[in-house]
Amino acid sequence: MEIRSLEQYHKAYKQSTEDPEGFWGSVAEEFVWRKSPDSILQWDFEKPEVKWFSDGQLNITENCLDRHLDTIGDQTAIIWESNDPEEDSLKISYRELHSLVCRFSNVLKRNGISKGDRVCIYMPMVPELAVAVLACARIGAVHSVVFAGFSSTALADRINDAKCNLVITADGSFRGKKVIDLKSIVDEGLKASTSVKKVIVLKRTGSAVNLQQGRDVWWHDEITKVDDHCPAEVMNAEDMLFILYTSGSTGKPKGMVHTCGGYMVFTTYTFKTVFQYQPGDVYWCTADIGWITGHSYIVYGPLSAGATTVMFEGVPSFPDMGRFWEVVAKHRVNIFYTAPTAIRALEKADLSYVNRHDLSSLKVLGTVGEPINEEAWHWYDQNIGKGKCPIVDTWWQTETGGIMISPIAGITPVKPTYATFPIPGIQPVLIDEGGSPIEENDKEGRLCIGFPWPSMARTIYGNHQRYKETYFSAYSGYYFTGDGCKRDKDGMYRITGRVDDVIIVSGHNLGTAEIESAIDEHHQVVETAVVGFPHDLKGNAVYAFVITRDPVDNEEQLRKEILSLVSDTIGPIAKPDKIQFVAGLPKTRSGKIMRRILRKIASRDNKNLGDISTLLDPSVVESIKQGAL
Ligand code: PRX
Repeated sequence: MEIRSLEQYHKAYKQSTEDPEGFWGSVAEEFVWRKSPDSILQWDFEKPEVKWFSDGQLNITENCLDRHLDTIGDQTAIIWESNDPEEDSLKISYRELHSLVCRFSNVLKRNGISKGDRVCIYMPMVPELAVAVLACARIGAVHSVVFAGFSSTALADRINDAKCNLVITADGSFRGKKVIDLKSIVDEGLKASTSVKKVIVLKRTGSAVNLQQGRDVWWHDEITKVDDHCPAEVMNAEDMLFILYTSGSTGKPKGMVHTCGGYMVFTTYTFKTVFQYQPGDVYWCTADIGWITGHSYIVYGPLSAGATTVMFEGVPSFPDMGRFWEVVAKHRVNIFYTAPTAIRALEKADLSYVNRHDLSSLKVLGTVGEPINEEAWHWYDQNIGKGKCPIVDTWWQTETGGIMISPIAGITPVKPTYATFPIPGIQPVLIDEGGSPIEENDKEGRLCIGFPWPSMARTIYGNHQRYKETYFSAYSGYYFTGDGCKRDKDGMYRITGRVDDVIIVSGHNLGTAEIESAIDEHHQVVETAVVGFPHDLKGNAVYAFVITRDPVDNEEQLRKEILSLVSDTIGPIAKPDKIQFVAGLPKTRSGKIMRRILRKIASRDNKNLGDISTLLDPSVVESIKQGAL
């Protein structure tokens, strides 16, 4: 089922739509199953319910680890690169990783965890993070990784929503010049939690920590108490593998649920296909494992494919703007996968930061997370790829589990800013304003998917109704992505951005409702409306329009307080770039805020405000315009 030519791509795509079960059934044969699946797909987008390989049994870690031991056991599975360039990098072979995972699986069991329990992981980008994730999977516990940049409140929300029984964390994390005390953030978060019985703490920074007796244990103590023999739990293909939270248009973040079989099949298939991974290649995805990109394309996809995957603890700007390129040269990276926001930041630095490093090992470049602008695409192509590396602009989502629309490196054509064509098995559909599918090319619409694919999220943890409403109710019979999309005359897809109230800031999804409710917590604040506006480096930034109780004496002071409130409630990534104090918000007569108008004002596009006559009080628009920042 390998795709090595354009003809094979067309053939595979055709088969995947004409006979999806035959197609995915044969892809699934490449894996190790405890019981091979006979039933390939059952689905109903109305309910909605989707099951792949539902009578199959497996353990994903047997595919990521055990099955490689006889063939590539001594090959490096993970290359770890520290935040500090002076600290030695680590190379962990498949055999060593297997042993580490089994040992830590036994630690989890020793601490009361068994199949079906939820384990929250809040860790820096160190190899133990991958070990923790895989150990959960090995014993059938459901991991919920929370990005270690989230605040204690955001962490507590996620722990409580999933009713986690155990937290795995570290004393602290290094990020550039900063040291962040993760354990104290966990301690703070756990004040608001009743489900967590144990906390396992890894020593990384040497920061002082408070160990709560009976609850907290050290990673390094625990692993001495167990051996490295741990048979994998037999999982049903549709058993939960993990929960990962993502922001939505409204309300609290949604715990997207991914299951074992389909997720494994699709992430491995797309990893090998999109990047055209070849045995021996060194692959580096710069994402954090706290996001879906890290789950699917640092841990599960590459390890299941038997690749060598690089894990980087640091940031692109430390100790200088050449760090990424230094790491590429040092480890002779062949496939490099990053986000447009990083490319835009690196593009601003002097070219000597690039040119002093030998990038000749690179074969394939990738991007993910947000639309890439034309300038960044060309800079990446010319200066990093030296005009000879195909760029795969991969469109997908936390909810989709794996890459959905993307060029296949060196095989299908590329076009700057276009995610181009769907991966075999993916059936994109554009829907017009009236809710009908658009058949013609050279049109723009809302991006939906018309047929299930193996790694789609199966539900929102604890709230199937919300899953239905968010993804399957806008357009009956379709999965709605929340993205706008253009299809050009040749049938290539270009994602134009969110059409809902999610703002993508530096590649991170933020819900406007979440930020608004954080700001509304301030005693001076009556009401807030948050929108996104275009930003050179971040792609989008957050603009908050805030109504206060009394006239503001000291705007700077109040802004500072609001920023720290957002930071404490969600995390520094959600801080607004601009906060404008306003007397009123543009509302319809039914009380709905017209964000369209605020978006225009925030983007300094005052001439095209559209019809404002339906507003309750059209005069507020003028005063907001006058005070715009
Ligand atoms: O708007 C799309 C944008 O990121 C959203 C998904 O965000 P998240 O769930 O955090 O997952 C990001 C990593 C997979 C999408 O709805 N997005 C993602 N990739 C692209 C993109 N927009 C344009 N081009 C992309 N390649």
